[in-house]
Amino acid sequence: MNRILTAVQCTGDLHLGNILSVIKPTIELSKNANNEVLVFIADLHTLTSIKDPKLIEENLYKAAIVWLSMGLNIKNTIFFRQSKIKGICELTWIFNCLTPYPMLANAHAFKDKSNNLSDVNAGLFDYPVLMAADILIYQSDLVAVGKDQKQHIEITRDIANSFNNTFGKIFKLPDCLINEKVKIVPGIDGRKMSKSYKNTIDVFAEENILRKTIMSITTDSKTPEEPKNPEECNIFNIYKSIANDSDIEYLKKRYINGGLGYKEAKDMLFELIINTFKKEREEYNKIKNEIEYIKDMFIIGEEKAQKIADETMKKVKNLLLI
Ligand code: TRP
Repeated sequence: MNRILTAVQCTGDLHLGNILSVIKPTIELSKNANNEVLVFIADLHTLTSIKDPKLIEENLYKAAIVWLSMGLNIKNTIFFRQSKIKGICELTWIFNCLTPYPMLANAHAFKDKSNNLSDVNAGLFDYPVLMAADILIYQSDLVAVGKDQKQHIEITRDIANSFNNTFGKIFKLPDCLINEKVKIVPGIDGRKMSKSYKNTIDVFAEENILRKTIMSITTDSKTPEEPKNPEECNIFNIYKSIANDSDIEYLKKRYINGGLGYKEAKDMLFELIINTFKKEREEYNKIKNEIEYIKDMFIIGEEKAQKIADETMKKVKNLLLI
């Protein structure tokens, strides 16, 4: 039995990139009876950047609705809110006291912002330690993350080792589960799709908004008649991350032969997204206002997650005599 953990922050709408890189692969893993999958919404991590509780809550439910619409099933997945689990913050403190300053000072997420230190709060600096507590409290075997999170898993392993060597061996060392098959999904401007670049596609947006987003994909100014290199086109590169092989081949030929305008290519991408996520979009619209129903699902998950966390915290406290 493999215990697999993943989490997303609730900083904004989950987009096509999140869906293809984390959400879909995790849901696939949960269908295998040999896996025990835990998924949580990292609302405490979100507090490092968003200070508006209403907005955090709103984003949290939006994230939950996306996961559920994509097919997360609470019968085979423990689905919960990070902040509801007692012990996480306490374990973070204990880990803080084992974490050397340079290890955190070298973490990419902090380093990227360290030229503007007055904007860095202690929570942001400590982000990897909270993440280590998240992972280790559930004795996870594997952590499903994108490549950008690899360093956090290395820090988690270092902290686990440090605890095990200092107080007693109770923590499992987790491994990264990085889905190599999933290529980086480009955003509408061609850079990696990311909330921070504001170049995302929300596949659950209303049709007119989705269409507007697709129409704003940046292209060069070639005329429809000109032959084009598909690999250089943002529309094609996004299309390629969703379509099946024969549709990709067809569109590729149309680019190379000439006679395909960008407007037509964008229409094809729009149709592809609507058709690919038809069932999921219907589900999304069905549950998007069912906050109480979603809360009930969380409560079921939180009870299960708390049980696992309590077992670990009992061992920790016995060792530390606190
Ligand atoms: N840092 C992760 C991200 O931004 C979110 C996260 C928080 C997480 N705690 C975690 C991911 C524990 C995996 C395991 O994507």
